Amino acid sequence: MSFMQINDLHVHYPIRGGFFNAVVDNVLAVDGISLEFEKGKTYGLVGESGCGKSTTGKSIIGLEKVTSGSIIYEGEDVTNKSRNRNSSFNKDIQMIFQDANSSLNPRKRVQDIIAEPIRNFLKLSDLEEKRKINELLAIVGMPEDAKLKYAHEFSGGQKQRIGIARAIATNPKLIIADEPVSALDLSVQAQVLNYLKDIQKELGLSYLFISHDLGVVKHMCDHISIMYKGRFVESGNRQDVYQSPQHIYTKRLLSAIPTIEPSTRESRKRERITVEQNYQKEEYQYFDEDGRVFDLYSLSDTHKVAMTTTNKEVIHKVAMTTTNKEVI
Ligand SMILES: Nc1ncnc2c1ncn2[C@@H]1O[C@H](COP(=O)(O)OP(=O)(O)OP(=O)(O)O)[C@@H](O)[C@H]1O
Ligand SMILES: [Mg+2]
Repeated sequence: MSFMQINDLHVHYPIRGGFFNAVVDNVLAVDGISLEFEKGKTYGLVGESGCGKSTTGKSIIGLEKVTSGSIIYEGEDVTNKSRNRNSSFNKDIQMIFQDANSSLNPRKRVQDIIAEPIRNFLKLSDLEEKRKINELLAIVGMPEDAKLKYAHEFSGGQKQRIGIARAIATNPKLIIADEPVSALDLSVQAQVLNYLKDIQKELGLSYLFISHDLGVVKHMCDHISIMYKGRFVESGNRQDVYQSPQHIYTKRLLSAIPTIEPSTRESRKRERITVEQNYQKEEYQYFDEDGRVFDLYSLSDTHKVAMTTTNKEVIHKVAMTTTNKEVI
């Protein structure tokens, strides 16, 4: 059973212009997406820069205004509800921000940054609070004396770790992790990802894991949605997306994953060229005349792809022949 549902979410930013600074158009940053979160699962949100990933995360947590659609948390409609200290929604849903620089107050010491959600949502004594802060710093691999410094005294990767410590401070149910490791060294990346997995097991946490890299997402996520221009082109479990991708854009993203294996480098390069040629040839079948992604169509209980009627017929035919073969 899912504890949270996002239904047909739209977030549009007005574009102003002209003499009166009137709204002349809208950026359709998020243009009709739906998601459900179950306890203890990790959901991946993948797509190129500017496709609407961060806007999705921020609107779920209430930092961007939802234009239309709804967000339901444990049966309650929390769409566009102002964030307040007493609501369990605000305690239970936390975010690790992509831009650690602007998400940490430069005038506060690290201990006050991390203590903010603790003071808002948990009633701890001074001693317990101190203990909790030390514990959180140790978890993200920061020395204890870091708590007396200001955020601007840290590197990008260290700031990201402080952001992680803050997000996990209140034992939330869902963490929206927006590119949580992209600014970290490779060695620290693995350490932080493993840590996120460990606390997930321990606390039954769920994640919405945002990344532009299908390679990183593969090892983290149970369910993956591929986003393009504010819409989902495909969504499914790991098997669906990595073993049998159906949308041309997913295939292109998969072919772009870098390989460290020298023996397969040449064949991967050829594959990339073929995928790119197919993309140019078949693009019109996967997007409407305005370049908008079609609605999602269910291929199985878990796998959905955005496609036109013509695509659907092709896929049905393939499915039919496979089933017939099995019968024979
Ligand atoms: N405050 C804003 N006002 C107007 N347009 C915005 C605003 N924030 C984002 N956008 C636009 O919305 C679209 C989606 O932006 P978003 O930050 O969600 O992308 P993203 O997928 O997170 O990209 P990246 O991978 O680079 O972080 C972009 O076209 C962006 O220019
Ligand atoms: Mg972003």
